[in-house]
Amino acid sequence: MTEDRKQTSALGMNTQLVRAGYDPFDYHGFINPPPVRASTVLFPSAEAMDTHAQKYTYGTRGTPTTNALCEALNELEGAAGTILVPSGLAAVTIAFLAYLSPGDHALVVDSVYGPTRHFCETMLARFGVEAEFYDAMAGADIEKLFRPNTKLVHTEAPGSNTFEMQDIPAIVEVAHRQGAVVTMDNTWATPLYFRPLDFGVDISIQAVTKYPAGHSDILMGTVSANAEHWPRLKETNGALGICGAPDDAYQVLRGLRTMGVRLERHQESALVIARWLEGRDEVGRVLHPALPSSPGHDLWKRDFKGASGIFSFVLKVEHKKDYKRKAQAFLNGLKLFGLGYSWGGFPSLALHVNLFDRKIISPPAGGPVLRLQIGLEDVQDLIADLEGGFAAAAMA
Ligand SMILES: Cc1ncc(COP(=O)(O)O)c(C=O)c1O
Repeated sequence: MTEDRKQTSALGMNTQLVRAGYDPFDYHGFINPPPVRASTVLFPSAEAMDTHAQKYTYGTRGTPTTNALCEALNELEGAAGTILVPSGLAAVTIAFLAYLSPGDHALVVDSVYGPTRHFCETMLARFGVEAEFYDAMAGADIEKLFRPNTKLVHTEAPGSNTFEMQDIPAIVEVAHRQGAVVTMDNTWATPLYFRPLDFGVDISIQAVTKYPAGHSDILMGTVSANAEHWPRLKETNGALGICGAPDDAYQVLRGLRTMGVRLERHQESALVIARWLEGRDEVGRVLHPALPSSPGHDLWKRDFKGASGIFSFVLKVEHKKDYKRKAQAFLNGLKLFGLGYSWGGFPSLALHVNLFDRKIISPPAGGPVLRLQIGLEDVQDLIADLEGGFAAAAMA
């Protein structure tokens, strides 16, 4: 890529999304990169093979297609380097494996993505790493939890399912003073609405399965590192041999080109629905950091440039014994919202959140917590569908 084409950082984020990572004149002017599938890469001579004197050497070490996505993410994240892995969960686990060793202690936010918690409690424990869960609202108070062997602090903001915000700069300040690396699962905001590395985070993790891919059909994770932590991440990735597939990388890069406009719509419709829910008698609380009623709202307003389309609400139910029945009646009353997990695609989704694995943060009181991913449908149709859910829950 020519130098003048690389100089895009002064451009707006949507312009970067459209251009980042690939110069069409690197490949005959075609606007998208070719999907290069490869295990074997040939060398022109024994000498070149001996010294690996060429950009591509082996399929697991990258192809022009995966490299285009890595370059795009480096630009969007402000990172020194990015690796691709086959899922968002793998992106978190590989980051932990890169920076933790037996005998280490890690601080992991209690509102973390559930399978990340599972990894900590099973594999990390088996490899002699102790993960301790901390309150998402701890901020600088996290310092009390540091031990001499604390090597990593994992953040996720807002948190999974209950959407607590975190004071990322305060946590970074403490962690760096104590010599720990800071990782962040930034899947909710994407670098469009929050750039972790600009706030001092060392490692930015995304399940690009969600908004970047955007069509509910691709699984991929990315880990982007600052200059200090890139060599270790790259080395770990090479040692484990876990890599992203070129066809998936092609689709994620394609998704990035339109992510700005899609996220704008997700954000706008989700806020219309969140505000509408706040006015409903059947709703106890709406858990969405862009609402002033949310406890983390000030942090969101201070640090984030926008909100994506996933949030939760508490369905008011008097007795705990009725929570599940009422939640299921609500979900069964929906016709447009699908009942499914992986969010960030075009369709709206709903589910009943399970919060029983929390160690520190108590689940919101007053009823079951229902999570909504607001898709790209017309918002009035979604509101009518939710009215159907409330009617069904009332009848149950
Ligand atoms: C916050 C967060 N991080 C990571 C993941 C994992 O992504 P994947 O489904 O690609 O493994 C998810 C999936 O729902 C998620 O919500």
